[in-house]
Amino acid sequence: MRIRVPATSANLGPGFDSCGLAVSLYLEIEVGAESLDWEIEHNLTAEIPTNKKNLLIQTALRLAPNLTPHKIKMISNIPVARGLGSSSSVIVAGIELANRLGNLGLTQERKIEIATKIEGHPDNVAPAICGGFVVASYIDEKVSYVKHHFPDCDIIAVIPETQLLTSSSRGVLPEEMLYGEAVKASAISNVMIAAILNGNLSLAGKMMEKDLFHEIHRKNLIPNFAEVRKTAKINDGYGSFLSGAGPTVLILSPYDKTKQIVKQLMKIKSTSKIEVLAIEQEGVQVF
Ligand code: HSE
Repeated sequence: MRIRVPATSANLGPGFDSCGLAVSLYLEIEVGAESLDWEIEHNLTAEIPTNKKNLLIQTALRLAPNLTPHKIKMISNIPVARGLGSSSSVIVAGIELANRLGNLGLTQERKIEIATKIEGHPDNVAPAICGGFVVASYIDEKVSYVKHHFPDCDIIAVIPETQLLTSSSRGVLPEEMLYGEAVKASAISNVMIAAILNGNLSLAGKMMEKDLFHEIHRKNLIPNFAEVRKTAKINDGYGSFLSGAGPTVLILSPYDKTKQIVKQLMKIKSTSKIEVLAIEQEGVQVF
């Protein structure tokens, strides 16, 4: 059995802690033979556990404590701690692992609820489970969510060499927001979502860049953020936003502008990696 989970980009600017998009990078696990103890062979850094302390197994055992241990191969090309949902992908894979090995019969809704409870926010985990574009809320421990088609475009990812932990990136956010500002921020978010649903990426892109919830507080943590945004804009990108808690920046690009935007981004003096991604319509899959 193989389980494949896509990377995700949370927030999309003003959709803070609520909107997310599945993109074409993947975590894949292959479940091998039964074994005396859990053994994980992975392509990640040496500090990631290769035994039952691995987040994948911790998550699975939380749901089904009596699972029989197996040998597991884990391959991921989702960069760690870069705002592309690497830990969410492991949590979602762990839930699916327990679901299949333990015959739990979990519904999509239940998987999202469990994943959100573990991760804290639904915006990374819901698209990893459903695929595509998902808008979700987590209120009083109850998740409500809507999946919708995202208009066609390329996604250019500018991925810094340095990691940024979500905890550090949340640490710069204020505890309170003035009522008037919150009303404005919510209006920006509402228009952005309506524009996405309407297929109007030009308007959605404009709204994305007006976020008042988190990007204004986090932008100084992100290498070359202003320069990347400006380069995308003057080369006809729809808009750019901080992916999740950062430090990756994503640019929504019309297909015929991607080459030019990438060419100009490469002129910025930086060690960031540039990758052209696509929207992934499928969430977690089992083969
Ligand atoms: N919405 C979250 C944040 C995503 O921006 O902090 C990371 O979990």
